[in-house]
Amino acid sequence: MKELKVSSVGMVYNVPKSDDVIALNDVSFELEAGRLLTLLGPSGCGKTTLLNILAGFLAPTSGTVELGGQQITKPGPDRGMVFQQGALFEWLSVEQNIAFGPKMNGASKSETKPMVEELLHTVGLAGFGDKQIYELSGGMQQRVALARCLANDPDVILMDEPLGALDALTREKMQGLILKLWQETGKTVILVTHSVEEALYLGDRLFVMAPRPGRIERDYNLPFAEIGLKVEPRELKASPDFIERREEILSLIWEMEEQIMGHGS
Ligand SMILES: Nc1ncnc2c1ncn2[C@@H]1O[C@H](COP(=O)(O)OP(=O)(O)OP(=O)(O)O)[C@@H](O)[C@H]1O
Ligand SMILES: [Mg+2]
Repeated sequence: MKELKVSSVGMVYNVPKSDDVIALNDVSFELEAGRLLTLLGPSGCGKTTLLNILAGFLAPTSGTVELGGQQITKPGPDRGMVFQQGALFEWLSVEQNIAFGPKMNGASKSETKPMVEELLHTVGLAGFGDKQIYELSGGMQQRVALARCLANDPDVILMDEPLGALDALTREKMQGLILKLWQETGKTVILVTHSVEEALYLGDRLFVMAPRPGRIERDYNLPFAEIGLKVEPRELKASPDFIERREEILSLIWEMEEQIMGHGS
């Protein structure tokens, strides 16, 4: 399993006829393999930029990222991305979506078939392999997106607001699924969310990020993801420890928002 090492990463976007945007400034952290890190912070603090750099879609303008001692310079099969919505191949069936990566790597149908069946079972979609994407609800589509990512067996799963488009109940069920998958696979997961509750519930580590320039403002190690594997989500989210943390982080974010507003934008 591979540790992630982010060293002094900066990202400046050059915007024609306007000031440069410092999307990330001097971001450094180490993340042991098998952690579930959540990224939380106001719009524009660089969460998506950071994920894109980790995925290798974007090259940082300064600093380096290493996974298992190897510098990340481009996308690779050791990292998988799950987007908010709409990233499935609409013209392929559920099964074909999930088998896509392995098939591109030369796997035959007899190899992918049992793997797809197992993954469908894992994400709670057994029997849905023949369906078309448009026949599925948003929650089911995100299950397919997760299965498609897992099919490539990445070391690190990167998720950009994967549950952001779902209704509250579906979202809570999907949070449970992500925790379960995290536990069962032992993979490293990095998940962006706008929800304080979700960031606390899922993250066994949590960064609160701040904008202008985008940076890590707070770095928490949290017990709730481990507890969430054993305790009902509602019970956990209503517990005094959870509520205390939630209020602490909410106040921090409110302070940041006020500072941003105070700077005249
Ligand atoms: N391609 C780009 N060109 C110029 N500026 C960009 C580009 N992509 C992002 N930015 C700017 O960089 C900053 C960080 O953007 P980013 O999308 O990473 O934020 P975010 O935290 O993901 O926000 P959100 O919560 O709204 O998704 C923002 O100020 C944004 O306007
Ligand atoms: Mg974003």
